[in-house]
Amino acid sequence: MSDRIAHHRRYLMCRPEHFTVSYSINPWMEPANPTDTAKAVAQWEKLYETYLALGHEVELIDPLPGFPDMVYTANGGFVIDGIAYGPEFRYVERQGESPAFIDWFRANGFDTRVPEEVNEGEGDFLLAGDVILAGTGFRSTGDSHAEVGRIFGREVVSLTLIDPRFYHLDTALAILDPVVEPGAEPGIAYLPHAFDEASQAELQRRFPNAIQVSDEDGAVFGLNSASDGLNVIISPRAKGFEAQLRERGYNPVLVDLSELLLGGGGIKCCTLELRGARE
Ligand code: ARG
Repeated sequence: MSDRIAHHRRYLMCRPEHFTVSYSINPWMEPANPTDTAKAVAQWEKLYETYLALGHEVELIDPLPGFPDMVYTANGGFVIDGIAYGPEFRYVERQGESPAFIDWFRANGFDTRVPEEVNEGEGDFLLAGDVILAGTGFRSTGDSHAEVGRIFGREVVSLTLIDPRFYHLDTALAILDPVVEPGAEPGIAYLPHAFDEASQAELQRRFPNAIQVSDEDGAVFGLNSASDGLNVIISPRAKGFEAQLRERGYNPVLVDLSELLLGGGGIKCCTLELRGARE
């Protein structure tokens, strides 16, 4: 028996109506390979329905034609305490998404901050208890780590990614416990080899009880998952991670986003947490 409890979540998603792979900004994207937009939408619907069935709230932002990556809403900002820090995308192909996300936050009552530094939102920023884990190396810059720390008034732990397949923090590290008692160690899972040595040592020191996943599970984007503290939505291909989660009393829920993996994204990439003033 597990004493884990599911915490109500509020998410922002974007239906992949314009999904395709027409450019390449990460090693997973191969424009020569065919994509199936209807299949992407159907798989995405499954994820959307899964969240609703678990009792979560899901807000939707309208997809913009010409922005096939907008489905990856995790990159659209970072939201804590009702404050939304907007994105500033690294590559020109996605830069037109920023105003759409910023307008959405404003229209929906968030205290919206326009960024000065290059950052890709929750792709590279994850809230672990009180601290912000911040990735760099491929997308978000070190200066954005300082900016995010100023905006939220929280400690920021910079982590350097070194493997181009794991170019965003949320491809190499998952937060399993979105809500924890002050001072308690939040459950996380990560792929050690995706990080440089100093970052691995820092993770080891701060999260001695973390799940370390195999390269095999990392390579199928097993860590690109969303958790409410009990239910962890993961890829059905991450077999070892699924077993590790069960051993720890989590409830893995399998959702296949194989079509969206063609763009280099998975479950977490399609999910932005909207943390209100209440938590
Ligand atoms: N094609 C997108 C990009 O390279 C995928 C983004 C994945 N998002 C994420 N949160 N890891 O920008």
